[in-house]
Amino acid sequence: MSAPQYPHVDETVIQRAREILGRELALFRERTPRSAQWLVDAERRMPGGVPMAWMRSLYRHAPVVAVRGSGSKFEDLDGNVYVDFNACDLAMPAGFAPEPIVRAIHDQALLGNHFLLPTTDAVEVCRLLTERFGLPKWQFTLSATGANTDAIRIARVATGRSTVLVFDGKYHGHLDQTLWSRSDDGGMEGDLTGLDPSTAQTTDVLPYNDPEALRARLARGDVAAVLVESALTNCGLVLPSPEFVTSLNTDVRAAGAVLIVDETHVQFAVHGGGTIAFGLEPDMLTGGKGIGGGVPIGVIGMTDQIADVVGANRDHDPGLFETGDSHGLAVGGTLYANALSMAAARVGLAEIFTPAAGSRVETLGQQLQTGLQRQVDRVGLPWTIDRLGGRIQFRLTPQAPRNGAESFASLVLPLADARKVFLLNRGVWDAIATAGPSVSYAIDEADVDAYIATSGEFLDALTR
Ligand SMILES: Cc1ncc(COP(=O)(O)O)c(C=O)c1O
Repeated sequence: MSAPQYPHVDETVIQRAREILGRELALFRERTPRSAQWLVDAERRMPGGVPMAWMRSLYRHAPVVAVRGSGSKFEDLDGNVYVDFNACDLAMPAGFAPEPIVRAIHDQALLGNHFLLPTTDAVEVCRLLTERFGLPKWQFTLSATGANTDAIRIARVATGRSTVLVFDGKYHGHLDQTLWSRSDDGGMEGDLTGLDPSTAQTTDVLPYNDPEALRARLARGDVAAVLVESALTNCGLVLPSPEFVTSLNTDVRAAGAVLIVDETHVQFAVHGGGTIAFGLEPDMLTGGKGIGGGVPIGVIGMTDQIADVVGANRDHDPGLFETGDSHGLAVGGTLYANALSMAAARVGLAEIFTPAAGSRVETLGQQLQTGLQRQVDRVGLPWTIDRLGGRIQFRLTPQAPRNGAESFASLVLPLADARKVFLLNRGVWDAIATAGPSVSYAIDEADVDAYIATSGEFLDALTR
């Protein structure tokens, strides 16, 4: 007999989850006929009927077609309304159509979306980012993926080295360099297909929360950048140990490498991100997603020393060199730092993602954690509800995971899938399978109560 895939969860609970999923998928199909027909028709124009292939595989159920949203809720083509605890995987933590963003987009669009020149908002966005994260200088892209791509290149020029260290359980965007993992035999394995295999030679993947492994790898002297999430959020939730934080703060720089902290997700769970919450001291900080309330933007924060490297290595048009010119850094893009992104980020940071609103997210996060724990205890399941600010994680193991491997091993896909579709059919849009629900800046107490009550119904169905 083969070993159970989920040894930490009672087999009857898994079996119930599979049954619930089957039933709820049938109900979902009944509730979403228009979306389903739209997808069939759209397949004539797009692979899988979607404008980005990922939309087809993000959830176990077929995608619904979105029509409109306001605050914490959105509506699909069939008129179903959902209260959103996924926040588009943190791309929309400001909620849908937030008034300050709508106003900023409208005002800026009347003046012009973009000039390929600085607009005055840029310096205010930098000031607001410095106030929040501490780093003094900033550059901009259109996504967090773009920010990580450029930050790695800057680190290479700053150090004259190539290798990038990342940690198991990470996700830093769809850039070849970071989409590698260690396989069981110790080799490098692509997380996805279509990657340039040569990038595996300049990437290494270490266990998270392992200062010994970090020091040993840094000692080889080839590392340009250590790229790390301030807490792992793409494999469940893993918090950094104080020893790991100390090692990142001291060992990386001592080895002549650059520390890049990726705050793309954690910045929306706790104000100032894990950088402030855990006391990280990065040379560079990357982020993106919801800063502009849904208007694309990526940000790179940097120390004055790194900013000097960027300033001294400006790009030239290839082929238009004057004597004495040297090749510049491969960073930037024609739509990067456009006026619309800057206007949206300015009001996002100043009016939506404020310290006071961050405290509210924390309070609602506590309310969600307490309410869910009560429901889990009520049905007698031995689970723990973990939390980082407004971000919740259902933990099904007695111990909190310390790295990506432990965290992935603790996730139970049939349970996450069943919960997602059960909640969906009752008007609650849950997080993707590798995450727990996030309290966005648009969520209120009634939304939190709805999540708790619907989860209670799900737990009843699971244990009845
Ligand atoms: C930590 C982290 N960094 C970077 C990214 C890439 O973000 P985007 O897809 O918006 O470029 C993600 C996306 O989930 C992420 O979780």
